[in-house]
Amino acid sequence: MKECIYLNRIFSGIQPTRVAHLGNYLGALKHFVDYQEAENTESFFCVVDLHALTVRQDPKELHERTLDLIATYLAIGLDPNKANLFVQSHVPAHSEAAWLLTTISRMGEMSRMTQFKDKSKGSSETAGVGLFSYPILMAGDILLYQTSQVPVGEDQKQHLELARDLAERFNRDYGDIFTIPEPMINKVGARIMGLDQPEKKMSKSAESEFNYITLLDTPKQIEKKLKRAVTDSENEIRFDPENKPGVSNLLTIESVITGQSISELEQHYQGMGYGALKKELIEVVTDHLRPIQERYQEIRYSDELFHTLRKGAARANEVAGETLAKMKKAMGLIQL
Ligand code: AMP
Ligand code: TRP
Repeated sequence: MKECIYLNRIFSGIQPTRVAHLGNYLGALKHFVDYQEAENTESFFCVVDLHALTVRQDPKELHERTLDLIATYLAIGLDPNKANLFVQSHVPAHSEAAWLLTTISRMGEMSRMTQFKDKSKGSSETAGVGLFSYPILMAGDILLYQTSQVPVGEDQKQHLELARDLAERFNRDYGDIFTIPEPMINKVGARIMGLDQPEKKMSKSAESEFNYITLLDTPKQIEKKLKRAVTDSENEIRFDPENKPGVSNLLTIESVITGQSISELEQHYQGMGYGALKKELIEVVTDHLRPIQERYQEIRYSDELFHTLRKGAARANEVAGETLAKMKKAMGLIQL
């Protein structure tokens, strides 16, 4: 890859905790595949294993889930010749940048991060410090690549705002080093809701497995989960997230997968019942996931996985290392 031809950089990261679900896929991963094709743009898709460590992980599990996620990146169609696919801990600059940015972060702004408040459940006495400073590590991820655009789900908007604030503060205090990143939040599918609890977003940490469909669910599991998906007591297929969160969520899922607009789908389903919607959706989801699952099985235990990781890490180290050196120099640290 020749650097001079790129004008823009895209960066995004996903934590290797459990298998990706439809929310991760439709809200984030699926769009990555389009972004890798963007003109004059170099993309970096990272597996953020250091972020995963902010909550207690079983080491063996973390190891496996990291490889699972890289295999998932490849299975959904990310191509190591088009995008840089790598693991965060393979690029030491991330940890170093996080410290340098910590020194310009403020307690007040960090205390306002809603994800920390949610995850620590208000018990600041026992909550991990890593969980608290997690958004600074994330800011470093983004800023090290002089990223112009960051595709994420809506829940990450506040963290991105922090990354922008830190970049502006650093540029003001130490010299113009960072590109100010913009969030890229897809309107349709930015928030896929839980199948059993459509008022809340689909989440890997949900209590019931009927909340989510993972990318590796069998056709039987997909059928079972969608059949059980919560709808409402009317029988009209209409997009109305406030009053009909379940049905609206199913329409959103179908829309993002098939590329049909919501209003096209509403028209298509006119006069039909929820049974018809679920039946069609089961087919749409199963057919869409089948080739992804086949490719996943092919590569999960292949050399291709490690080849991809080495290639991605080499390029990531090059770009991130350059920015880190600029940061250190600007802050007055001696370089040999
Ligand atoms: P996480 O697994 O929470 O680290 O999320 C990984 C990526 O998927 C992030 O970009 C999230 O914003 C996105 N994401 C997670 N859950 C959902 C959801 N239910 N709907 C849409 N996007 C989601
Ligand atoms: N915090 C993000 C999440 O939980 C993951 C993440 C880490 C990320 N570093 C990033 C996303 C950089 C975008 C850019 O979903």
